[in-house]
Amino acid sequence: MNKKVSWGVLGMGVMGLNLSRNFANQGISLALYNRFMKGSEEQVALKKIKTYPELNSALPFESLDLFVAAIESPRKILIMLPAGPIIDKIIDDIIPLLDEKDILIDGGNSHYNDTGKRFLSLAKKGIRFLGIGISGGKIGALKGPSLMVGGDRKAYHIVSKDLLKIAAKNINGKPCCGYLGSGGAGHYVKMVHNGIEYAEMQLIAEIFEICLPHADSNLESIQNLFKSWQNSSSESYLLGISSEILSYKQAGEPYINRILDQASNKGTGAWVTASGALAGSPNNLMTAALHARFTSSFQSLRKKNSIEYPSLASNNVTLPNLKKTYDICRWINHHQGFEMIQQAKDTYKWNLSLENIALIWSEGSIIKSKLMNQLKLLFPDANSVMEMSPFKKLVSKGQKEWMDVLIYSIGKGIPTPCISSAWNYFKAITQARSSAYLIQAQRDFFGSHGFNLIDQKEEGKNHGPWA
Ligand code: 6PG
Repeated sequence: MNKKVSWGVLGMGVMGLNLSRNFANQGISLALYNRFMKGSEEQVALKKIKTYPELNSALPFESLDLFVAAIESPRKILIMLPAGPIIDKIIDDIIPLLDEKDILIDGGNSHYNDTGKRFLSLAKKGIRFLGIGISGGKIGALKGPSLMVGGDRKAYHIVSKDLLKIAAKNINGKPCCGYLGSGGAGHYVKMVHNGIEYAEMQLIAEIFEICLPHADSNLESIQNLFKSWQNSSSESYLLGISSEILSYKQAGEPYINRILDQASNKGTGAWVTASGALAGSPNNLMTAALHARFTSSFQSLRKKNSIEYPSLASNNVTLPNLKKTYDICRWINHHQGFEMIQQAKDTYKWNLSLENIALIWSEGSIIKSKLMNQLKLLFPDANSVMEMSPFKKLVSKGQKEWMDVLIYSIGKGIPTPCISSAWNYFKAITQARSSAYLIQAQRDFFGSHGFNLIDQKEEGKNHGPWA
């Protein structure tokens, strides 16, 4: 009988493969499984082992029972499959092959409620379940991802030794990996990460569009603008790749101009939008970014509408300074994400530390940035991003430019879903008396829902004279 291996990785898609290569580069022995599909998926694991030298001591499998039998006890099996029913199917297939205390890990982008349910039902069977949010895309998976772990705490203690090895390291060499709580805590934090990611991407797209009328046909001026911002506090992974993307040419033309203007999504943006709405946690930048993607998908309708409703642009507005606006909106985007996490901490009794999450996101993840490193340093002394003095300074110096950007975009007929959502949120959250008293009066008028009075001391609802 061969010596058993430490880990099993199930699913040899790009993420499963690159995580396996990362494990192997750390000297961790592996069993690799990929299903057999006649004609389309045959000997996949074996072929990967032959292609990547670091995998040459890994064992390939197409039979689930042989794969499970090759792993030492307690087994550590990382499932790298797309979120959805396929995860339940593979869990059902693998359970009869497992022993008590074996550890199953879902490393995909599953919904945190699904992970919570799977955690409970597997715990009843004695199987330890972890849901890990993994960020960093294919390069991160290979070179060091950001790992957001939730589920069985004892299981985390067993797997953490290896997870800490494969994770990205922050500027001080600390692994960007952490245990965030039971059930679906890891996938909840990954979902919020993706919400921040959506808004970060949309903010860059809005700045890009605002710059377009002033750009040369090569887009070099925008590429250079983004590049110069990379040498400042605005630095981020997403801004860096955006600048690089703009540099690609085909037949002398920017390659990006060939791409259809229809943004796709795999669901996490909708989940985070819904979660914010259900929890009463304002996340209108993420929501705006998601809806901007939805609107973009109506491509033929937009084309038709653009003829029927031509934009009336005013020409006598000059391009304002965009950087301060971009920075303020990013701080607000991060503020909303961290507020969602703060709220989830109380709701689900997860032991979430905002400082620790900023550390986990500061390297490896798609939203890694100078700002994230700064937040990690600032969180111990602040309960929220809006309490931090660099944010206050930014707003006091940049509010005027922010207004100019909004006026400019309106003058030019350029939609700015995220920049204006940030503005609306900021204005609303810093307004001493909101117009909500009229909403309360309306609710009471038509539905007798009642309201509290400004100087009310005792419990109980009041009704207006219209009752
Ligand atoms: C990451 C990303 C990744 C996500 C893609 C696609 O952190 O590495 O969040 O997990 O799957 O970005 O997401 P959409 O298809 O929804 O844009």
